Amino acid sequence: MKKIEAIIRPDRLEDLKDALSKAGFTKGMTVSQVLGYGNQRGFAEYVRGQKIVPTLLAKVKVEIVTHDDAVDEVVDIIRKTVHTGEVGDGKIFILPIEEVIRIRTGERGGDAV
Ligand SMILES: Nc1ncnc2c1ncn2[C@@H]1O[C@H](COP(=O)(O)OP(=O)(O)OP(=O)(O)O)[C@@H](O)[C@H]1O
Ligand SMILES: [Mg+2]
Repeated sequence: MKKIEAIIRPDRLEDLKDALSKAGFTKGMTVSQVLGYGNQRGFAEYVRGQKIVPTLLAKVKVEIVTHDDAVDEVVDIIRKTVHTGEVGDGKIFILPIEEVIRIRTGERGGDAV
């Protein structure tokens, strides 16, 4: 199992939710409002060598834990749905998940996702 952690523009969240549920990825997700900056340090562009204090911009973090064989499809959906081509589109991180436990039933692993 893997966790897909996508940092996206807040205004892309509704479309992403729709696209994921249309594709059948309805088992669960976690969404948080976060602050962050990337290579441009929170500005529209970044000139090398310029001394600027990074600005934290509002982003949304979407976390989805899924089976390994679904990762590529989820990543494709995220990219297609949130991509604008402008800087600040966001990033996707993929992390290994060691274990999942459904609290109600005690199920573990793939059955608990
Ligand atoms: N290396 C990183 N570590 C942790 N979070 C990051 C990292 N890079 C980006 N982020 C998060 O993703 C958000 C969006 O980053 P952003 O899309 O600006 O990345 P970028 O590398 O600057 O790409 P681009 O050049 O397309 O803007 C940031 O505000 C931050 O929350
Ligand atoms: Mg950036």
